[in-house]
Amino acid sequence: MEKKQELYSGKAKSVFATDDNDYVVLSFRDDTSAFDGEKVEQLSRKGEVNNKFNAFIMQYLSDNGIPTHFEKLLNATESLVKNMKMIPVECVVRNVASGSLVRRLGVEDGMELNPPVFEFFLKNDALHDPMINEYHIETFGWAKAEDVNKMKDLTFKVNKLLKKLFADAGMILVDYKLEFGLFKGGVYLGDEFSPDGCRLWDAETRKKLDKDRFRQGLGGVIEAYEEVAHRIGVPL
Ligand SMILES: Nc1ncnc2c1ncn2[C@@H]1O[C@H](COP(=O)(O)OP(=O)(O)OP(=O)(O)O)[C@@H](O)[C@H]1O
Ligand SMILES: [Mg+2]
Repeated sequence: MEKKQELYSGKAKSVFATDDNDYVVLSFRDDTSAFDGEKVEQLSRKGEVNNKFNAFIMQYLSDNGIPTHFEKLLNATESLVKNMKMIPVECVVRNVASGSLVRRLGVEDGMELNPPVFEFFLKNDALHDPMINEYHIETFGWAKAEDVNKMKDLTFKVNKLLKKLFADAGMILVDYKLEFGLFKGGVYLGDEFSPDGCRLWDAETRKKLDKDRFRQGLGGVIEAYEEVAHRIGVPL
């Protein structure tokens, strides 16, 4: 497999073509952004930690019946993944109220959500990723109704698996965001699962172990990511 030209560069990762059109290289950079790219910093080791963290989670999910784009780790900061047509919709599950949900609805931060809340957001930085529902997705053709159902179903299956994985390591999976794509007609989990795209709290102290440390300027961002990785057994 040969790495070829850069196809796309996002805020945290770059995508490179390979000599096989079915696969691309996902390259995790140290760039860290928040508030739609308003706050940007380089955090040393982040690319490596997130690449290895994501590989571990994707492999765990694949082993437990979730179709994912992940193929293999290539090196410290790069992974080989299926070349997908990404669906421009983010799927969010919230087990505990925090972040935008609290601001939007005025509910108490830290409140347990039973049943968990599911939300869709449109991936569009210029519009600040607005919340949307199934009707918008179908009407504007962002995904087919049957694929929307698959995304929702898979996002809840991931919740069951990861809530337990983190709980067994003394953490609460507060919320997380997933992105899906299409590959040869099937829906696969894509992008990444890392502390950049979820909230994780220590179960005892409720210490934040995710990107909120960066958003809120709490410091020790990568140290927290490494602690989470260590607790669930990610080889770093
Ligand atoms: N398997 C895949 N095939 C093709 N593209 C992918 C795949 N997995 C993730 N991507 C895309 O690669 C990009 C990753 O970069 P990054 O996360 O840095 O983007 P971003 O700044 O969040 O911007 P965007 O809003 O485009 O996602 C995203 O656009 C993501 O949708
Ligand atoms: Mg992204």
